[in-house]
Amino acid sequence: ATTLGASATAKNRYFGAAIAAPKLGDSTYATLLRTEFTSVTPENEMKWDATEPSRGTFTYTAGDRIVSTAQANRQQVRGHTLAWHSQMPSWAQALSGSALRSAMLNHVTQVATHYKGKVYAWDVVNEAFADDGRGSRRNSALQQTGNDWIEAAFKAARAADPNAKLCYNDYNTDGVNAKSTAVYTMVKDFKARGVPIDCVGFQSHLTNTAPSDYQANLQRFADLGVDVQITELDISGSNQAAAYAAVTKACLAVSRCTGITVWGIRDSDSWRTGANPLLFDASGAKKAAYTAVLNALNAG
Ligand code: G3I
Repeated sequence: ATTLGASATAKNRYFGAAIAAPKLGDSTYATLLRTEFTSVTPENEMKWDATEPSRGTFTYTAGDRIVSTAQANRQQVRGHTLAWHSQMPSWAQALSGSALRSAMLNHVTQVATHYKGKVYAWDVVNEAFADDGRGSRRNSALQQTGNDWIEAAFKAARAADPNAKLCYNDYNTDGVNAKSTAVYTMVKDFKARGVPIDCVGFQSHLTNTAPSDYQANLQRFADLGVDVQITELDISGSNQAAAYAAVTKACLAVSRCTGITVWGIRDSDSWRTGANPLLFDASGAKKAAYTAVLNALNAG
């Protein structure tokens, strides 16, 4: 097929992009979104600070705009993200212990309820593990409410939306390492205890190459009985086209890899300012990386 989304569909995958509501009025942006992608992730509009700016006051306008755009484009929506130590509104940052735990669980419940039936998959918990090389939990205020905060968030999300796929999402987990193995151990424990979890998101913010054990890492999680999703793909460096092809091929090789999301549409839309890590250049033209992905999707 001649678009990312159509080519991914032919291989029973989605191909998505993170999008920003303020850019939906840009015709180049909106056209690329509509024609190339079959899934969207709100880059910021469904985060805690955006949806509950003051305690008990929920603001869904921007998130709703992204959902309605996706519905008009017949695209699915990945919700991002219900519980994350970053981008917490200041009122929540001032909480700790049981007060924070109940505020977080209420937030998960309210937002998942609001988007019930409109979100295909949620990043229920984002980035709960540390980068200390030992697979420790990140020592956030959420973690300090008790080690069971992650499963509590997943249970609340399932209670609010029984049909959405519930994902754990993280970065620097793209190969077999202490951090990804800590996530693996948590997912294995959750599955053994019947804690609701359906998928694991691998953000895959990469430079030049994917880890050599990228596919093997995806496969070991899939073998636990969860879907794997590449959730925030962007690749900087001169080797980016080959690396994008490798990541795409790895997803196609793992049957439970249900799709790929790139973290933005044009290089100028990227949070990695100046790294030019995406598939379209600032003018919206297709890059060599785009062609590498399209060819990988269409191969075989
Ligand atoms: O909306 C305000 C605007 O009103 C204000 O004028 C402006 C300047 O202060 O800030 C704007 O908010 C910014 C927001 O992006 C929207 O542009 C925040 O400051 C800025 O921190 C926020 O950055 C986002 C970052 O997450 C933190 O939430 C990036 O766009 C987004 O790409 C990035 O995405 C994260 C994923 O959610 C999780 N994984 C890592 C990934 C990259 O950091």
